[in-house]
Amino acid sequence: MTQLSGLLDTEAIRKDFPILDRLVHDDRKLVYLDNAATSQKPRQVLDALGEYYERYNANVHRGVHVLAEEATALYEGARDKVAAFINAPSRDEVIFTKNASESLNLVANMLGWADEPYRVDSETEIVITEMEHHSNIVPWQLLSQRTGAKLKWFGLTDDGRLDLSNIDEIITEKTKIVSFVLVSNILGTVNPVETIIRRAQEVGALVCIDASQAAPHMPMDVQALQADFVAFTGHKMCGPTGIGVLWGRQELLEDLPPFLGGGEMIETVSMHSSTYAPAPHKFEAGTPPIAQAVGLGAAIDYLSAIGMDKILAHEHALTEYAVKRLGEVPDLRIIGPTTAEDRGAAISFTLGDIHPHDVGQVLDEEGIAVRVGHHCARPVCLRYGIPATTRASFYLYSTPAEIDALVDGLEHVRNFFG
Ligand code: ALA
Repeated sequence: MTQLSGLLDTEAIRKDFPILDRLVHDDRKLVYLDNAATSQKPRQVLDALGEYYERYNANVHRGVHVLAEEATALYEGARDKVAAFINAPSRDEVIFTKNASESLNLVANMLGWADEPYRVDSETEIVITEMEHHSNIVPWQLLSQRTGAKLKWFGLTDDGRLDLSNIDEIITEKTKIVSFVLVSNILGTVNPVETIIRRAQEVGALVCIDASQAAPHMPMDVQALQADFVAFTGHKMCGPTGIGVLWGRQELLEDLPPFLGGGEMIETVSMHSSTYAPAPHKFEAGTPPIAQAVGLGAAIDYLSAIGMDKILAHEHALTEYAVKRLGEVPDLRIIGPTTAEDRGAAISFTLGDIHPHDVGQVLDEEGIAVRVGHHCARPVCLRYGIPATTRASFYLYSTPAEIDALVDGLEHVRNFFG
């Protein structure tokens, strides 16, 4: 058995995840390597969801009865847990959404309806990168189309990193917002946040970070990051689907207008006009994802008890091992950095000219779950002249034996396709 240093006690951790015990295709042990798409959920999160519905279910913020009060305390308690997890200066800076896409769309729409000094118009520019998930491209395209603002982006180097050689031409005095991914979901690249933020601050641009592939895997400190907005989702970090987070700096949340209107986000309403509740409620119209927030709170308790630094070290050791082992597979080309230092635990690759869908299908027959396609980051595939990739992605319960199974599976794929 492969011994790597820095690994977590996966034997104990895997006991918390019932799904990891199941067989697929009758008798195949499940090897789940699709964690960048969604993580599995530990018993502690499943129990918190069940307990919420069995004991506390009620709508929040609007009842005087005991269940409403308890449900509100649980929902707002989840907000406290998120605030502590990301080291937010205030719990009021944590907005619950349904996923990271909604969080990013919320930022684009806050700015889209804002007055000066935040106003985005035809005299201004929006900056993104070529390695963004579609969730951090399309909202900005929509905003650009609506306002006439120019959309610009950083390109990519051949080895899967951001090309920042022209940073002063991309981020200029006209830039209103720079929005970029901290860890790429397709390339695995960890981006140089400080360099980008320093330049954005020089020109007074706001910074939004898509931390969907970072928050589940490494300690997050929004104060150290020095961004203005940070978006992530619950389901990739052991929480349920249907819950996302947008963290924003308090003074911005106070100044910027709401996007969705409805119940709970108001102070007063008349037939002519309305005034709004303070943040975060101003941005949480309607009944929120209550059980899902409670589930996310349980996921945060679970991850924090293990330790985000330990999870990062575990994934780092696995990624180093995976890069080495995948490097031994003939005709395999990693799309993204091939050093483990500045990459996350999602590794995309091509295998000769075998189509990734065929690779994924043969692996699936062996019980190995990977994702194939453009991973909602099609411009990356266009940049590297490939139709798609196969992506293996790891998490706290992944093991070196699963990486060995992937490498053996890829040998079978090569044999199968001659
Ligand atoms: N954004 C998720 C992924 O990259 C779904 O797989």
